[in-house]
Amino acid sequence: MKRMNIGLLGIGTVGGGVFELLKSNIKEIQRKTSADMRIVAVADKNIARAKEIVGSSIEVTDDAFKLVADKEIDVIVELIGGTTIAKDLVVKAIENKKHVVTANKALIAVHGNEIFKAAHAKGVMVAFEAAVAGGIPIIKALREGLTANRIEWIAGIINGTTNFILSEMRDKGLDFETVLKEAQRLGYAEADPTFDIEGVDAAHKATIMSAIAFGIPMQFEKAHVEGITKLAAIDIRYAEQLGYRIKLLGIAKKTSGGVELRVHPTLIPAKRLIANVEGAMNAVQVFGDAVGTTLYYGKGAGSEPTASAVIADLVDITRLLSADAEHRVPYLAFQPDAVQNTPVLPIGEITTSYYLRMRVADQAGVLADITKILASHGVSIDALLQKEADEGESQTDLVALTHETKEKNMLAAIKEIQDLKTVAGEVVKIRLENLS
Ligand code: HSE
Repeated sequence: MKRMNIGLLGIGTVGGGVFELLKSNIKEIQRKTSADMRIVAVADKNIARAKEIVGSSIEVTDDAFKLVADKEIDVIVELIGGTTIAKDLVVKAIENKKHVVTANKALIAVHGNEIFKAAHAKGVMVAFEAAVAGGIPIIKALREGLTANRIEWIAGIINGTTNFILSEMRDKGLDFETVLKEAQRLGYAEADPTFDIEGVDAAHKATIMSAIAFGIPMQFEKAHVEGITKLAAIDIRYAEQLGYRIKLLGIAKKTSGGVELRVHPTLIPAKRLIANVEGAMNAVQVFGDAVGTTLYYGKGAGSEPTASAVIADLVDITRLLSADAEHRVPYLAFQPDAVQNTPVLPIGEITTSYYLRMRVADQAGVLADITKILASHGVSIDALLQKEADEGESQTDLVALTHETKEKNMLAAIKEIQDLKTVAGEVVKIRLENLS
């Protein structure tokens, strides 16, 4: 049996999971591969902790660069994260003709084009199943299982932290700040949760899926990114009354004018399966022209689910080692010379439906003024909800759902509505997708 020597960079939560899972399931895994996979060296800043995990039979160092230069190592597993040292290490590993497995979504979304080009030139594989939705094999599904399809759109709940927060806000009627604190206390949200709650983590993952689905380069810098920090509990309640749930979706959609790539809170019909994905779970819905809708559900983070994806990549590499580079599955599903520069549309050019909440004076003609403005911008109303004003209040909430329209038309209408003397404060706008 061929040997495949693995150098593990980072033995924290995921690295520790990879080590343990490989140990506990090695017999089952080995029955599926033709190579003897062994972790032969580990690099981690915390040498004492690393030694505690791996014991004395495996080399442990705090110098990750030593591993990427080691001639005995065939594959580097990068689990350090971030886009600085991790990038240097991956680039060096490729230069030294080592295959790379990484769970690093930021690295792939931001520097993927450069990394794949270098890997292609050196004839090595770069595998990143764990970078999107943790344990859900969505990269494999998109790249291989759905290869016969023209993918039309993808919509994913691809950040567990924010899905946990949104689920709690809905269940308990609490506001964002309260739930965030609770999520941090329970360990669901990190001490610095910025990347999660501002939608950046989801945008990294959506960027990667868009590249594989549509055969376009990684274009993270063109993604529209909105998190959940401004979402009010009242909008979750109104959405529910109208038959919708609000989820943070990563959306990649192919249109005749280009690709929509966006992350933002989104109303989706409560009857859709994906609307019922609760807590820290992830789910990705994919629409292919032949297969129709498919849905992938599971844990998007955590030690063992992420290790499951990392080890699947390692097994893939053992299987493809003997194939010459051009007969392997292309990194981005499409052959490198077939990748197209389809533009990612600016947010004003996207088309979707909207939820609007307006605080309006409870007097004659207000609704007529608002509907007139919407109509003048070609925005058609799908549903309206108006609450009775609370006792002693002269204002009330008016909620409207619209049919699909271009975002720039919606923004122009909102600006005019906000200028009405009978409308107080800002109009709240949340995008709505039917996912049908
Ligand atoms: N922080 C991510 C989440 C997991 O909350 O889903 C890793 O991407």
